[in-house]
Amino acid sequence: TRYFALIPAAGIGARVGAGCPKQYLPLAGKAMLLHVLETFAAAPAIAHCFLVVSAGDAYIDEVLASAPQLRTRVTVLLNGGATRHASVSNGLQAMRAQVEDADWVLVHDAARPGLTVALIDKLIAELRDDPVGGLLALPVVDTLKRGNANGRVAATVPRAGLWGAQTPQMFRYALLRRALEEVAEVTDEASAIEALGLAPRLVEGSVRNFKVTLPQDIPLAELLLKGLS
Ligand code: C5P
Repeated sequence: TRYFALIPAAGIGARVGAGCPKQYLPLAGKAMLLHVLETFAAAPAIAHCFLVVSAGDAYIDEVLASAPQLRTRVTVLLNGGATRHASVSNGLQAMRAQVEDADWVLVHDAARPGLTVALIDKLIAELRDDPVGGLLALPVVDTLKRGNANGRVAATVPRAGLWGAQTPQMFRYALLRRALEEVAEVTDEASAIEALGLAPRLVEGSVRNFKVTLPQDIPLAELLLKGLS
């Protein structure tokens, strides 16, 4: 069995409010997406990387032209969908000729540039013999409040046992493809696997691997990336 990366990067990243999709924002000297691609390309365990972008993507050619060393490690798929779920499903469909049912796929958000080779290796080491697969995640540290429509606390939600899901999320190709085809819209792969009645394993991730979502996340991501290199 081999390990493949699948990176959905077809979002527009509206919440970050930049002039381009957030995965193309420059962070510490290079596009956010390039940090992610270079990390997967540097991971010896990863056989190959598939990247899903929108058909009309105006940025990807330039990004890849700036990183010729990635040419043999990355295949660009131009069939991004209207949602992350659709983009991942479309990517799995497009890579079918190059993977086998039992191969593992690590799905990773382009918007998590702080991923490291060490985290990839940890995820793979913990899940390679697992019957289901799983994901990087972090135990919730804040006290959680459910808010009402007036911006007031409706309830405090006990945080014991709660984790924040990160990516990569790692499942075998055939299982993941079937799960995503069968379920209604989900926001991560694990949710689709859960809907089949299976229980993905939680592997402790890192705060460095946070998802860049809001404008104030950008300086934080830059700080982390500069510290990582
Ligand atoms: O918007 P959000 O941060 O949840 O996006 C998570 C990841 O999913 C990003 O890498 C984004 O590019 C990707 N995505 C996608 N297709 C969409 C929406 C989001 O590939 N239609």
